[in-house]
Amino acid sequence: MIVAIDGPAASGKGTLARRLARHFGFAYLDTGSLYRAVGFAVLQAGGDPADEATAEVAARSLDPALLDDGRLRTDDVAQAASKVAAIPAVRAALLDFQRRFAAAPPDGAKGAVLDGRDIGTVVCPDADRKMFVTASIDVRAKRRFKELREKGLDVIESAVRQDMVNRDARDAGRSVAPLAPAEDALVFDTSDLDAEQVFALAVRYVTDGR
Ligand code: C5P
Repeated sequence: MIVAIDGPAASGKGTLARRLARHFGFAYLDTGSLYRAVGFAVLQAGGDPADEATAEVAARSLDPALLDDGRLRTDDVAQAASKVAAIPAVRAALLDFQRRFAAAPPDGAKGAVLDGRDIGTVVCPDADRKMFVTASIDVRAKRRFKELREKGLDVIESAVRQDMVNRDARDAGRSVAPLAPAEDALVFDTSDLDAEQVFALAVRYVTDGR
C-alpha cells in the first residue's frame, strides 16, 4: 500500500503522514528532507542553491544520514530547498531513492507513506491513496511562526509569512513537478480542522478508500 500526501508548507501534511504511518505500521518518508539536505549541503559548501551544476552534484552525492539532522529545519534551508527543487536535474537525481522507498519500504513494512509536493503526480502516480492537504496562508504562516518560536528561534511573523508566500509561489510556479493536487487526490483543507479531525478522516480514507 502506497499512500501519497502532498501539500504546501505548514499545511499539516507532515504531522498527518507521520501519524498515519505509525497507525498502519507503514514506513514514512518526508521527501522535503531530501530537498532540504541538498539545499543545506550547497549552503554549507558556500555555493548558490540556484546554480544548477552545484545543486546537481549535491543531489547525486546526497548523504541519507543527513535526513534527520535538526539543522535542516530552518527557514534559510527551506528557501534553499525550494531553489534546488526547481532544477530538473536535482529532481531526477532524487526520484529513484523515493520510488525505491515506496516500492520496497525498509524493515519489511507492508506499506509506505510519502509526503511532499509531487508524490501523487510524479513520484508515485499509481499510489493506492492520494491526499492533498492544504490550509489558508494565514493559518499556515501562524502555525510555522509558532513552531519556530517554540524551537527558540528568534523570528518575526511577517517575515515567516513572506518567506512562505515566496516559497509557495516558487513551488507552484516551477516548470517541473509543480505543487498541485493529483486529479484523483482527496483534498483536505485543514484551516478549520484540528489534527485529530484530519487524522480520523484520513484513517477512514486509507482503510476504505473513501
Ligand atoms: O516539505 P518541506 O517544506 O520540508 O519541503 C522543502 C522544499 O522542498 C519545498 O518548499 C519544495 O520546494 C521542495 N519539495 C519538492 N518536492 C517534494 C518535497 C519538497 O519540491 N516532493
